[in-house]
Amino acid sequence: MSRGTGGMDQVVALERAALDALAATSDEAALEGWFRAYLGRKDGTLTGLLRQMGKLPPEERPSFGAAVNATKERVTAAYEARKAALGEVALTERLAAEAIDVTLPGRSGEFGTLHPTTLMTRELSQIFGLMGYQTIEGPEVEQTRYNFDYLNIPKNHPARDRWDTFWVNSGTATDEDQIVLRTHTSPMQARTMLKQDPPVRVIVPGRCYRYEAIDASHEAIFFQLEGLAVDKGITMADLKSTLTSMARQLFGSATKVRFRCDFFPFVEPGVDFSATCAVCGGRGCRVCKQTGWLELGGAGMVHPNVLRNVGYDPDKYSGFAFGLGIERIVMIKYGIDDIRNFYANDLRFLEQFAGTRI
Ligand code: FA5
Repeated sequence: MSRGTGGMDQVVALERAALDALAATSDEAALEGWFRAYLGRKDGTLTGLLRQMGKLPPEERPSFGAAVNATKERVTAAYEARKAALGEVALTERLAAEAIDVTLPGRSGEFGTLHPTTLMTRELSQIFGLMGYQTIEGPEVEQTRYNFDYLNIPKNHPARDRWDTFWVNSGTATDEDQIVLRTHTSPMQARTMLKQDPPVRVIVPGRCYRYEAIDASHEAIFFQLEGLAVDKGITMADLKSTLTSMARQLFGSATKVRFRCDFFPFVEPGVDFSATCAVCGGRGCRVCKQTGWLELGGAGMVHPNVLRNVGYDPDKYSGFAFGLGIERIVMIKYGIDDIRNFYANDLRFLEQFAGTRI
């Protein structure tokens, strides 16, 4: 340590060196390094100057101490200013990096499409709407009285086996109040007639459930469309013309419809009805298993017992009912050979219906 003004010179030189080095720092890491080097408690050169005071003659100590302190104050102030400036630079850089161009066109979202079952339900609703039918819906969780009893299928009737289903509550409820997942949309026949007097003209699309061995044409959960017309003087000819008209609107005006005897406890006579294959026009192909016909559903004249059960007089009123599988109609119309495609959620299948309009 030099004596007299030598000590002061050292303070001045150190201040300049510190300020020059400070000006050269370009980021926070460099600034921290600079702080440790000059102002750090342990090794900072400016801090170290005060420790050297003891080596000075007593008369020089006050002025040296004052000079060192003044220097430290100026250098500290310069450090604070530099820190603020670098902070601002860092913020500006971060904002620039994070900037978004609000003038860019937005990313368009992915739009879903209507499911083929929904499309077909709407198409059928439109076709029957033009024939004067109202579209209504009913409960999927149903009491046995509507699913079976009102429909002329009493407890222990063998026909119940044909519609085995999921029983929700088979505990303390009476036979007619057992809860099932409905096996068909026919329970809405009874519910509708109990609510209103004839004339009745309704269709009921909706989900049905069956304890089913699933295969290419059977699902455990599927959709049906029920139809019911009751009035004075309704005959089998009305049933035939209504279903023929539906088939021709669905598959084209050359379509023929075939009715064959079948048994359903809630109709008499009962039929199953088929349309000429939409793929081969009735000549025979793989889709119709070479028969030329594709089965659409079951139908018949409402059984007098059913009319009586809901309080209608069978001597005064008659009617017809039909039930068809909605997925089956889609399969026929679009040549789909496996019903399991419908609910597998495979977009490659579903997107094929994106452009379908009804
Ligand atoms: C019935 O369910 C009667 N309720 C139909 C009916 C109504 C007859 C009114 C008379 C009067 P069936 O069990 O046959 O009948 O079913 C009718 C249609 O539903 C079938 O032709 C078929 O297209 C469709 N269907 C039946 N079971 C399944 C299934 N597991 N998966 C897909 N579709 C099915």
